Amino acid sequence: MTAQILDGAALSKRLRAEFKVRADELALQGHRPGLAVILVGENPASQVYVRNKIKACHEAGMISFDFPFPADVAPAIVLQKIAELNHDPAVHGILVQLPLPPQFDEAEVLAAIRPEKDVDGFHAANVGALMQGDPRFIPCTPYGVMKLLAETGVDLNGKEAVVIGRSNIVGKPMAMLLLHAGCTVTVCHSRTKDLNAHTRRADILVAAIGKPKFVTADMVKPGALVIDVGINRLPAEAGGGLCGDVDFEAVKPIAGAITPVPGGVGPMTIAMLLANTLTSAERFAE
Ligand code: GUN
Repeated sequence: MTAQILDGAALSKRLRAEFKVRADELALQGHRPGLAVILVGENPASQVYVRNKIKACHEAGMISFDFPFPADVAPAIVLQKIAELNHDPAVHGILVQLPLPPQFDEAEVLAAIRPEKDVDGFHAANVGALMQGDPRFIPCTPYGVMKLLAETGVDLNGKEAVVIGRSNIVGKPMAMLLLHAGCTVTVCHSRTKDLNAHTRRADILVAAIGKPKFVTADMVKPGALVIDVGINRLPAEAGGGLCGDVDFEAVKPIAGAITPVPGGVGPMTIAMLLANTLTSAERFAE
């Protein structure tokens, strides 16, 4: 058996074409969706992510408002900008690219974003709403993963799901979404003992660790749905390309379905950011 390849690039493209139709409809009513993007510093990975988000935004008929700040900017300046954007009727979504430089208290910055415009879903009020099963915005990466899982047609009810990684951005909201979908969820992390014993039980395995090719064939149950959230740049001596947290070639023959890197989860994160921005604009237009 060889795995179904979950083509996030193709699904993202389809979704973004649908979003453009909805964005253009809103624009006709005078509410073209607008996303404000704040980027502090020059982290190369963040610069690439932000560039891709802005490009996708424009292609889907939405406006972006870009606010780059130098790495040594005073937090008060950024907080002031967020306060302005909270009140700006042309802005339906506010995204602060993470991580922020060390002078920032990330929680303070996320708390400053008006929850109704928090399209990343990172504000404590939105995290709480998600936890209660009544989300306002679902964090983009786990949201994209749920869309990819839906593509398999597999009923998630009663399945064993194992998430490797416990970050606020991916691991924790991912676990919550799988729980709400009826899975029995285990969250593993760097302190987990006998990780393989957990992963080998997984019908659904989500890898969000940030270590290249960490998930090997012996860790995967035959037929499992394997979702690779990792985007790792290989060292120059290894060719310098991108690779995920899963050893794709080794796991593909065993898994029931698997996401490639690139072209799996990454494009879905961007699509779901646009989905949330559009949803926000539709709510404001009501
Ligand atoms: N950094 C890594 N992933 C994300 C994300 O989804 N949103 C934001 N704002 N920053 C990130």
